[in-house]
Formats: sequence, structure tokens, C-alpha cells
Amino acid sequence: MCGIFGYLNYLVKRDRRFIADILMNGLHRLEYRGYDSSGIAFDGDNIEENNNNKRACIVVRQKGKVEELEHAVKSLENIDWNGEFSIHVGIAHTRWATHGEPSAVNSHPQRSDEQNQFVCVHNGIITNYKDIKQFLINRNYIFESETDTEVVIKLVKYLYDKHKNENIGFQKLIEMACSQLEGAFALLFKSVHYPGQLCATRRGSPMVIGVKCADAFGSNHIPVMFSKADSEITDNLRGVFSPPLLITDQATTDLTVAGNDRSIEYYFASDASAIIEHTNQVIFMEDDDLAVVNNGTLTIHRAQHEVSGQSTIREIIELKIELQQIMKGNYKYFMQKEIFEQPESVVNTMRGRVNFNTKKVVLGGIKDYINEIRRCRRLILIACGTSYHSAVATRQLLEELSELPVMVELASDFLDRNTPVFRDDVCMFISQSGETADTILALRYCKQRGALILGFTNTVGSSISRESHCGIHINAGPEIGVASTKAYTSQFLALVLFGLVLSEDSISKEARRNDIIDGLQKLPELIKEVLNCDKQIRDFAENLYEKSSLLVMGRGFNFATCLEGALKVKELTYMHSEGILAGELKHGPLAMVDDTMPIVMIIMDDPVKTKCMNAYSQVLARGGQPVLICNDDDEELIKIAPRYITVPRTVDCLQGILCVVPMQLLSFHIAVLRGYDVDCPRNLAKSVTVA
Ligand code: F6R
Repeated sequence: MCGIFGYLNYLVKRDRRFIADILMNGLHRLEYRGYDSSGIAFDGDNIEENNNNKRACIVVRQKGKVEELEHAVKSLENIDWNGEFSIHVGIAHTRWATHGEPSAVNSHPQRSDEQNQFVCVHNGIITNYKDIKQFLINRNYIFESETDTEVVIKLVKYLYDKHKNENIGFQKLIEMACSQLEGAFALLFKSVHYPGQLCATRRGSPMVIGVKCADAFGSNHIPVMFSKADSEITDNLRGVFSPPLLITDQATTDLTVAGNDRSIEYYFASDASAIIEHTNQVIFMEDDDLAVVNNGTLTIHRAQHEVSGQSTIREIIELKIELQQIMKGNYKYFMQKEIFEQPESVVNTMRGRVNFNTKKVVLGGIKDYINEIRRCRRLILIACGTSYHSAVATRQLLEELSELPVMVELASDFLDRNTPVFRDDVCMFISQSGETADTILALRYCKQRGALILGFTNTVGSSISRESHCGIHINAGPEIGVASTKAYTSQFLALVLFGLVLSEDSISKEARRNDIIDGLQKLPELIKEVLNCDKQIRDFAENLYEKSSLLVMGRGFNFATCLEGALKVKELTYMHSEGILAGELKHGPLAMVDDTMPIVMIIMDDPVKTKCMNAYSQVLARGGQPVLICNDDDEELIKIAPRYITVPRTVDCLQGILCVVPMQLLSFHIAVLRGYDVDCPRNLAKSVTVA
């Protein structure tokens, strides 16, 4: 997965330094999406040809973090940084390698030739790149990188040369090229032949456009219409795009006016976190949209072959994220900040939904579907990684409250098995980013089979939230750290709320529901108490950080905590770590236990405590010296345990929200002590948009 950023200013005077800084800043915001290499392309000096508007294109690419690129840009020679432009286009990219090792030449922007006549940045995978590459090699094209993206930009150049005499526009050219592509992509193009223009398209990978126009927009929701009018066949290619945006209403008129005589700036990005500090007016592109800025005017076009059944309305949406929410504040790492934000993020998940006086929960996003959900054959929860763990964590409660069969599925495995899905199934997709490719594919699979689709995401406008019939926004706020923390606790909570709503007409469950709702009210304060153990957990980390393995054991409501805790340890510290169901211990894992094996055991004072104590005895009998995570009022356990971390008591089904926090902190501290970059674990990226 990669991060794309683009910037275009029209009739706003900006110098080159400003433009380079804007691109760099965008990359810093997106660095969590990929950080093995990065690059930018921006306008150079005029090309003294017959056309004075044409400017050379400067491309800088660098292996390593965005910081490295920043140094490389600063040390560029013969650049007039103070040179002003009232129209300028820049594109930028931060990469997480899928095709070709991290290196400058494999970084984006990829280019058509040594003169950088066409450049593009890409997020996704072009699955038919080998065929196109062979086609171009047969026509004497020479490739410099191992990327699938270079094929795209060389194809654009090929088509440009082929149609040169037809005076073909940038939009048409990109339509033609993209109609040849298979796979998943978000692409942003710039060209010396089309000065002041920018083209963007997406299929399966996200792209957001930010619009900043000093006085054009007065209201929050301004519709942007586009035309589905006649298709035109060009160059015998599939999937031709329709003619330009119809200027039909106030908003688009404003855009046009801006294009004529008003200053306007456009920002293109893989997600809104890179845009929000510039503007909160955004348009989420849909699959097969082609967005073009020309003469300061934004138009959106559609691939004719994909248009049927899809909405043809694009809105400019006012985003509610604050810049502060995506900054580190006083913390050294985003992950650390996000762990400590949890008392607040859980409140945000419950805000406006839970009435603690009347003990009522209302979930606006699914309220029209509740009866249908209650009548379903089964609930199927589908997700990946940490999001999957939130499903494991709440399965037992959902079974209890809904009295429905509840399946919990890893999206990739669910697809591999061609799992039977029926019209009366309710399929719930849980995803922080809302863009995880496996989860999206599973969603489409279930939708095709007629199931009701519920999305649980943290990202407004994400593919999963848009493609679901209904859903719940988990409202944890932007999560930048690659390792998910606050999104997990908010997903957990959103699923608990869902269970409460499902059971609200059951009188026999009223007492249980009320208990849980009381527990929810106290949760933020209790999380704060757990966070006070930070120093103690750091001391445990001191003892553990040089070890090579860590087992995390538990059962019942806390089995998911073990899986999630072990995942945090693995991804941040690169240590071997396993979450083990304590009931499975004697079926194999016990063989790993001796007096040298680091172990954490989660033993809460809940209905499985006795069974957990058996497991504890077995571990002690093999010389194991586990650190316990237990309730702070469990005197019996505290008395006998040599090493423990305590968490306050809450309702059994919410206890996992408190127990996971020490595991988040432990993995964080071990990683810091090992000298690793907590926000950018090696080989990982925040949102996995390739299946
Ligand atoms: C681990 C982590 C990943 C994600 C997984 C799914 O800390 O963040 O395991 O949970 O890649 O991502 P989303 O939730 O965006 O679908």
C-alpha cells in the first residue's frame, strides 16, 4: 500500500519552495501508508519551444523515509526556489513496495522517459502489467524499473505518440490508457504536454479530492453532477469514459467561475488526513471516476462500461476532522498518543448513542434494518488482523444477546473457502481503514449473494462504508500509528453496542443489558486507571526486551486479548509471540513452557477463572514464571502471584477493553527499548489495499 498526494494551484501565486513544502507535508501525513521510499514531481523551468507555458518536470525519488527525500530535494542544484507560479502542478508518493525492491528507480513518480514527459504516482497493483509491458517492449520501449506502474506511464506515452496528430486532450489520453488496465489502482498523472492539468482515477484504491476556493462555497453539501451521456469509442479500447461533467448547479458553476477568474487550489490524496489542514471540503472519488483539472476547473467523468446501477452524484462533503487529531501533540509516537487517547475515543464511539439514564442505545446507522437483522439466519463477522480480533472479542456477547449463530471469519480465508452465504445472512465487515482489499472483496462476495451488508469502519467515505447497506461509524478519530490500538477498543465497543441494540426487546436480558450499560459509563475512567500503569509496564518491558519470544495466554472473553496482544508484540518488536487459548495448552503449546520462556497470562475474576487457574498451575509446574494480568481487587491471586499487572474490574464482556491496554503499552515499550520505529514497523503498512 502506498500514499498518493497531489497539489494544483490556479491563479494563486506560489513559489517553488511553497509547492515543494506542500508536497513534502502531504507525504509526511501519508507516510504511515508506506515508508520504504518516496518521490515528488513538480514544474521546472520553461521549455523554450514554441509553447511558453510548457515547463520541464523535475522528478526526485529516494529510497527510505520521507525525511531522506526532503534532504534530496533540498540539495537539488540550480533550482530557483523563489520562482513564482500562478498555475502549478505537483505530485508525490510514499511507497510500500509490492513490485520491485525499495530503491530510487522503483520509487514513484514513475516516468515515461528521461525527459519526464509524463509522470504518475500509483497505489495498488496492475495485474495485467506483464502483457502490456511485453506489448511496449515489442515497440522498443526500454524499462528502467521493476514496477507495474512504469508500464502505465509508458502506455500513456505510447498512446500520446500514436495520437499526436489528433491533438488529443489529457483526459482522453488517460481514459484510453486506463481502459487497458486490470487490477486495483489509484493513479495521479502530470505531463509537460498538458501544463496546469492534473488527471486522477481510481479502481479499488482510495482517492480523495480537497477543494480550497476562497469564496466559492457557502454550504456544507454541494452536489456535483456529472454526465452519463453518450459513449464514444476510441482506439478500439474497452471502457471509454463519457463526456465531461455537466455544469448543472450552483456548486459546479462556482467551480467553473473559479476556473475562469478566481483562485482555487486542489489537493488529491489517498486519504483525507493529508488534506484536512488545507481544506475540509472534499470529494470522495468512486471506482472508475476520472477527475481532471484543466483551467482551474474540476470535472469528473465516468467509465461508461461501469456506470450502470451506480450513483452519478458526487458531493463536496465537509469533513469534521481537526488537524490536531492527526498531529502527535506532546507524544513522541502516534501509537503512544493513540493508546493514551482511548479514554476519549471510547467516549466518542458512544457519544449520542448511549443514554445512561434511560439505559437505551440507539444506532442511527442501522436503525432501519434492525428487524431484518433480528430475523436473519446468522451473523457473519468478517475482517482482518486487529479488526478480526475485535470480532473474536465480542462473539460470545453477540451470541448471548442475539441468540443467533455468530460466525467470525478472516476475510482472506472466507474467500479462499468460497464460503456459502445466503440471502438471509447478515454479514458484518469490520475495518479501521475501510479500504482493506481482502475485506472489500469478501463484502462484494456476500453482497452478490444477497446478504445484508453492515460496515463497521473508522473512515467516513471509505469503500467499505460506501458499499455497505448500513453500518456503524466507530468514531475513534484518525488512527495514524500502523499498529491499531484505539480503533480496536472502539470496534470492540461498537460491536457491544450492536449487541445491546439487537437484544433491546428481550425482557429477560434487561438486567444484563443494564449492567453492561453501567459498565460502559465507567469505562473511560477505568481506561485512565489502566494507563496509570505505564511506568510499571515499562519496567516489565525492561526485563523482556532482549528475549526472543513471548507467549500470551488466556481464555473466554480474553482469548481475543491474547491474540491482539501477541499481534501487537509481533508487529512492533519483531519478537516471536503467540496468543494461546489456555484451554488448548495441554494440546501442544505447553511443550514450549520452561523456566526461560517469557509468558503473560490474563486471568480475570470471571466465569472462566477456575479454568485459567488450572492453566496457571500447569505453567508453574513446568517452571514457567508468568506475569499475570488480573483484577486489582483479586486478593487471592495477587497474594500468590510473584509478578502481576492489575486492571480495574468491569463487566466480564467489557473486561477485554481494559486488559488489552497493558498489552498495547508492553509492546510499545519493548519496541522503543529495542530501538525500533514504533509508528512504522518494518514490512507493514497501515492500510492493506492489495489482496
Ligand atoms: C494491526 C493492524 C492490522 C489491521 C488489518 C486490517 O495492528 O492494524 O492487523 O487491523 O490490516 O485493517 P483494517 O482494520 O483497516 O481493515
